[in-house]
Amino acid sequence: MSSSKPLALLGGKPRIDRSEWPSWPPRGPAIIAALATVANKDEWGIHSAAVSHFETAFAHHHDAEFGLAMANGTVALYCALAAAGVGRGDEVIVPAYTFMATAAAVLQCGATPVLADIDPLTFNLDPAAAAAAISGKTRAVMPVHIGGNPADMEAFKQLGEKHNIVIIEDAAQAPGAIYGGKKVGALGNVGCFSFQSSKNMTAGEGGILLTNDESLYRRAFELYNCGRTTTGPWYEHLSPGLNLRLSAFQAAILQVQLQRLEADADKREANGRYLEEQLNEIDGLQCAGRYQQTGRNAYHLLIFTYDAKAFSGLPKAKFLEALMAEGVVATDGYRPLQSLPFIKHDGGGLPVTDRLCRDQVWLRQFELLAGRPLLERAVQAIRDIQEQAHLLV
Ligand SMILES: Cc1ncc(COP(=O)(O)O)c(C=O)c1O
Repeated sequence: MSSSKPLALLGGKPRIDRSEWPSWPPRGPAIIAALATVANKDEWGIHSAAVSHFETAFAHHHDAEFGLAMANGTVALYCALAAAGVGRGDEVIVPAYTFMATAAAVLQCGATPVLADIDPLTFNLDPAAAAAAISGKTRAVMPVHIGGNPADMEAFKQLGEKHNIVIIEDAAQAPGAIYGGKKVGALGNVGCFSFQSSKNMTAGEGGILLTNDESLYRRAFELYNCGRTTTGPWYEHLSPGLNLRLSAFQAAILQVQLQRLEADADKREANGRYLEEQLNEIDGLQCAGRYQQTGRNAYHLLIFTYDAKAFSGLPKAKFLEALMAEGVVATDGYRPLQSLPFIKHDGGGLPVTDRLCRDQVWLRQFELLAGRPLLERAVQAIRDIQEQAHLLV
């Protein structure tokens, strides 16, 4: 289809008015009612019915037996690592392409994050690269379901069994994602989610740890609840645990969101697949693929790569600027983890991560909740830019 309008950057009318996109987080009477119930009838913190109800509901929804709702995803990861026995002198293999919290949680345990490269198909930790990074000190591997796209968990489970190491899923971006017929989060030994503002479910802040391993759950419980056991007296503290707990107000908000998770996740999946089909047809763009066991990508991010050569040499920053001007919010993403000042990496090149960090473009999860006509216009905006890119260089 040929473009029928000048680019917004060149004085044309934007394809989309930003206010047309769905807003996030979803607000409304159900949230207000849930908050009022806690305010009027529940405990506000510990011993709250809202918290224990949410922990069980979210865990069961994700095919897990145990859940511990926490202040955020970072401390949930820290707690998972510590409960799995990771500590000083240990190494944990993490992907070089992820949010810094994946590695920060390892460092906070006194252990060393060892970076491994990602799979160019899915942008997730590459199982072969992870296997190559295993040493006598490796205690755990932490695959991240990047952008909500499930990692190759079958390969990681085999790796864990073979080397007797723990598999910890960083599922911060992946509520509702399905792999091998099951939800992610407890496919390995333990997994963690984040409910920070941008996430597919959010209470502003928050996180949860899931596991099917009862003894790991008990160790995590002690760490998250001041060294207490699940049944012991209030002032019995068996270890120097922390207070990592979530408030009842946050749990109440999350419970409302859990009720819409399936519908939202199905919509993101349908729209994500549509966009991938459309974008992959545009010369110079390539979306992340998925493993065949993936039943549903949570699409926290829709990640694609941009090749300036197919856009008359238009630099990526200018492409993003043009897209924003058309009303499509697209952003650049992570820096390679090895470029952060507190990360030591001497394990050789990480070329796939470097390439992706150079070429990546992100679309956000809540834009994937839009109606199809709006997404069609977003795709058209990209086609417009390609046709008129020579006017921007
Ligand atoms: C991959 C990943 N891991 C961990 C986290 C940490 O979660 P939080 O921000 O809730 O601490 C996030 C989110 O910010 C994330 O995207």
